[in-house]
Amino acid sequence: MLINTKIEQAQLCWQIGDWSSLVDLEHGEQPQLLLYVAAAWYQLGGIEKANGLLSGIELKGQEKDLARKLLISGVYNVLGKARACANQYQQAENLCRQSLQLDPPVSESVLNARVSEQFAQLGIPRLPDNVKPAVFSPDYGSFLQAANKLFSQEPAQQIAQAEYHQLKERFDDAIVNWQNVSGLLGSYTPQQHYDRLKDAYKSVKGFPLGSVEQETLRGDIDKHKLLSEIHKQLQPQFYFEIGVQTGKSLALAKCEALGIDPMPMLNQELPQTAKVITASSDAFFMKQADVLLSKSIDLCFIDGMHLFEYALRDFINVEKYAKPHSLIVIDDIFPGHPDQANRQRCTRAWTGDVWKVKAILEKYRPDLFIVAIDAYPTGLLLITALNPEDTILDANYHSIVDEYMAIDFVPNKIVERDKSISGKSELIKTILSFLHESKSKRLNPEEIRKNLVD
Ligand SMILES: C[S@@+](CC[C@H](N)C(=O)[O-])C[C@H]1O[C@@H](n2cnc3c(N)ncnc32)[C@H](O)[C@@H]1O
Repeated sequence: MLINTKIEQAQLCWQIGDWSSLVDLEHGEQPQLLLYVAAAWYQLGGIEKANGLLSGIELKGQEKDLARKLLISGVYNVLGKARACANQYQQAENLCRQSLQLDPPVSESVLNARVSEQFAQLGIPRLPDNVKPAVFSPDYGSFLQAANKLFSQEPAQQIAQAEYHQLKERFDDAIVNWQNVSGLLGSYTPQQHYDRLKDAYKSVKGFPLGSVEQETLRGDIDKHKLLSEIHKQLQPQFYFEIGVQTGKSLALAKCEALGIDPMPMLNQELPQTAKVITASSDAFFMKQADVLLSKSIDLCFIDGMHLFEYALRDFINVEKYAKPHSLIVIDDIFPGHPDQANRQRCTRAWTGDVWKVKAILEKYRPDLFIVAIDAYPTGLLLITALNPEDTILDANYHSIVDEYMAIDFVPNKIVERDKSISGKSELIKTILSFLHESKSKRLNPEEIRKNLVD
């Protein structure tokens, strides 16, 4: 194989786990190369060397994603090696494989090479048994505690903490850690983390309740009632939902419908026309959307991860498969108390900072038609006059996320639902009836918006 660039060479060494060659690589000041070399030093126990390489480098956009990927991959690799040292070969192999499964998939031969190389470095012969999923057994606690101390960098620390809490059956703490991992890994969050989060949700006895004020909820119409009205008036032909959970909102769709959730917990009877796929929205858009969204989306409900950058990515992706007259509804735009908007969940009612998506769309997409509704319990945002060709949000995604990540307070006007309209307002009916009639008219986004504003 021809190695074209230093970065490709570093990638190759990293995939195979050839840490010694990687630390010998001439790296200069190139941030991506420095990240790969530091990752190798971490694996070799050269933590000070790694920290030295990384001190003072400023990571931008995709480099931050790479740093997250390398860190998290490093944890799995070390966990794998620890298992191998404890003679738990199958689990060791599985964990070493997981360390490479954060990215678009690598080939089986690369996975094999990584496992063999890690075993060889430990002087352990590799066993060709069937690989079983890793099970974290109690004797593993001390290693996780050590890993927790060793990997002071997030998200590695969060994973170690999550596993440790899960081991100790402190499921509410584990949920917070797994959710923090999703906040740090973003679209890289692998399905196995959602699986662990689901395990924690299934075992938790109830999230600790905050004070009465902290748990305040408002709204003059129940969101499911309003969603049901929207379905009736809009009569969509294809409904798409991000965040299905029990299926309560998906069950409202009478048309062909598709719901996406990495950890669905269905307890509602769904119509035969509704389908649920177990996947995060990021994974779905990366791998399946082009095939499964062949019909354009008429109505979409975004109610997935309660972190603004997730909801923003969901909006960007959904708009690409929509028509100008399609309607996107976003949940959780109005926290009832500032603490509900914390990125790290500390109340039972939790909106996270999804309210920021409303602010972002108002600032960066004045061409959209947006209405905020005083729905119970945490508001709904209606968005139409969509433009599948628009690239503003996509092109500026990283800088927008940096800009809004820095905001760590909720403006009062958000908690007070300033400029929201009543869920019973006639205006909603007018909007829906106009959108329904527009279906056959092929209006462009500007015409849709102009008509609605008028
Ligand atoms: C509030 S619940 C959805 C409730 C549902 N829409 C309803 O009204 O009946 C949020 C759901 O989002 C899911 N979720 C979390 N992260 C997600 C992601 N990255 N992509 C899609 N769904 C996600 C969770 O598993 C959870 O089931």
